[in-house]
Amino acid sequence: MLTPNSQVPTPNSQLPSPKSQLPTPNSQGPSPNSQGPTSKRLAVIAGDGIGKEVTAEALRVIRRVGEVFGRTFEIEELPWGADYLLETGITIPPNGYDLLRRLDAIFIGALGDPRVPDNRHARDILLGTRFELDLYVNYRPVKLLDERLCPLKGRGPKDVNFAVFRENTEGLYVSIGGRFKAGTEDEVAIQEELNTFKGVNRIIRHAFAFAQEHGLTKVCMADKSNAMQQGHALWQRVFREVAAEYPGINATHYYIDALAMYMVLDPGQFEVIVTNNLFGDIITDLGATFQGGLGMAASGNIHPGKTSMFEPVHGSAPKFAGKNIANPIGAISSAALMLDTLGWTKEAAAIDAAVMKAVKENQVTSDIGGTLGTREAGEVIAREIR
Ligand SMILES: NC(=O)c1ccc[n+]([C@@H]2O[C@H](COP(=O)([O-])OP(=O)(O)OC[C@H]3O[C@@H](n4cnc5c(N)ncnc54)[C@H](O)[C@@H]3O)[C@@H](O)[C@H]2O)c1
Repeated sequence: MLTPNSQVPTPNSQLPSPKSQLPTPNSQGPSPNSQGPTSKRLAVIAGDGIGKEVTAEALRVIRRVGEVFGRTFEIEELPWGADYLLETGITIPPNGYDLLRRLDAIFIGALGDPRVPDNRHARDILLGTRFELDLYVNYRPVKLLDERLCPLKGRGPKDVNFAVFRENTEGLYVSIGGRFKAGTEDEVAIQEELNTFKGVNRIIRHAFAFAQEHGLTKVCMADKSNAMQQGHALWQRVFREVAAEYPGINATHYYIDALAMYMVLDPGQFEVIVTNNLFGDIITDLGATFQGGLGMAASGNIHPGKTSMFEPVHGSAPKFAGKNIANPIGAISSAALMLDTLGWTKEAAAIDAAVMKAVKENQVTSDIGGTLGTREAGEVIAREIR
């Protein structure tokens, strides 16, 4: 019922593997299955709106990688999304998370549909998977590929190249709280922010370990500990403790409001930013703007060593849906991140290089100054994989 299972054949290619034009600052530690020589099993949830269109292009590129590099992808396309909910009344089936857990990685387009105003399918599928699979690292590289895409005056790729690590399993998104006397003038609405030592410690540690592993020397933590004096005191304490273990790394702190300002004024000062779930969500939309817009930004929801989930940062953009205008680069770059995390670094680098070439040659969609549709932009990138 759920799983039209498509096997993607991958003939061997005689082509040499490419030299990457882009460093891939992506490595989050290979999954337990990364030693598997030629085959990966992927769950693909295209979702809603433009999610469907950009996922089709990410899949096109993944299939091309298979052909060029002699890899096989077993792709489990899952129809979960608004249409599925409206047809069946099901957001995610009872065995859904187990099904996902058994595969090597998950790719997801976007979820959100005006016909489902309470967004419950997105909560179950997207947030649910983050929580159930304990994908505590939300990794969002903010990397500008070409100066012309950046709205900041005089800023180029050397100024916009940093990683944001957003805590992904706690904070305000756990939905602890409730509404009392809802819909009346006496309504009380409470939404608690969850901060645990375990949660804060592991994301901050991940940020420092990433910096060290990639030869970076700066980690900035952002919170609102001046106003949120309970939960964010925990962030302060853990950050100080972990920073003390990394004397070679310059550990700095900004309040989140100041961080937003400094990101605009001087993005070049950042290498690694670590923050909580809500703040990370917001500042990575800002970061995406520096990259050329939401259509450009990639992300990974990662539990190092376990099945992880990859998705463009953008949502389902209902206005753009079905018009063949959405930029597929965020989705395609998320696929690169997925392969890199699975340990297929050459394949990931080939995708990054193809994206870079398409951007440099302006073979892109209109949001970043090109004239191509979603499909045509995806085809250009797929053709460049070699
Ligand atoms: N991870 C997710 O699945 C996710 C993330 C954010 C929002 N959403 C959902 O998506 C729906 C729409 O939300 P929204 O409008 O706030 O955010 P959105 O990211 O869908 O779109 C905001 C705007 O960004 C631009 N944009 C986004 N993706 C683009 C692309 N690929 N190419 C070109 N331009 C692009 C468009 O101008 C669009 O109107 C809502 O239902 C929301 O809940 C889902």
